[in-house]
Amino acid sequence: MSRIQVLPSILSADMADLGRDCARALAAGADGLHVDVMDGHFVPNLSMGPAVVKDLRRAFPETYLHAHLMVSRPDAYAPVFAAAGADCVLIHAEAEGDLAATLRGLRAKGVRAGITLNPETPVERLDGLADEADEILVMTVHPGFGGQKFIEDGLGKIAAIRKRFPGVPVSVDGGVDGGTGVRCAAAGAEILLAGSYLFKAPDMAKAIAEMRAGAEAVFPG
Ligand code: DX5
Ligand code: ZN
Repeated sequence: MSRIQVLPSILSADMADLGRDCARALAAGADGLHVDVMDGHFVPNLSMGPAVVKDLRRAFPETYLHAHLMVSRPDAYAPVFAAAGADCVLIHAEAEGDLAATLRGLRAKGVRAGITLNPETPVERLDGLADEADEILVMTVHPGFGGQKFIEDGLGKIAAIRKRFPGVPVSVDGGVDGGTGVRCAAAGAEILLAGSYLFKAPDMAKAIAEMRAGAEAVFPG
């Protein structure tokens, strides 16, 4: 796996042909799959549940599965997604419950634990949580839907997080395309999540390869 990871968000896949689209993304060189989980409460949309992760784990045993929990009660659901076979479970800093304990519980199971910030949430909210996390995810759209416009403020936030919490990998999600993805990498993001851009690309393999190569060329390392 190269240093920069490109993980397509399967929220932009054709849900009537999810397996086919996942296989297509992996054949195009994706480093894994980003699975968006929405509870209709934390965000105003519903998406995929643990059964999707369980079946993807069975269908793609070697694939890195990155589960983004946009749910109000990650304490209740993070363990469920870990048990379903996710390699990394990301929860939100704005959610309810004991977030540090939820992150510790994931790590105790050998699952990577991620903490996520919405666009309006300050970096300081990570204090006391970043230490328990293997990844910090910066949202560059308001979560809930694919295909939204990239929020530029995310670039400064990525840089601020790298400075405040060196050593914790930073990921970025929302409006990531060939241009914004490379700019995020230049700011210090090494895990690029992209839905509509990659699934709508005329040549997904080319889009992934170019995003990864462009990002690797500018990532501060
Ligand atoms: C938004 C999701 C994203 C979404 C990104 O709530 O967390 O993962 O799929 O979609 P694009 O890349 O189209 O902005
Ligand atoms: Zn996501």
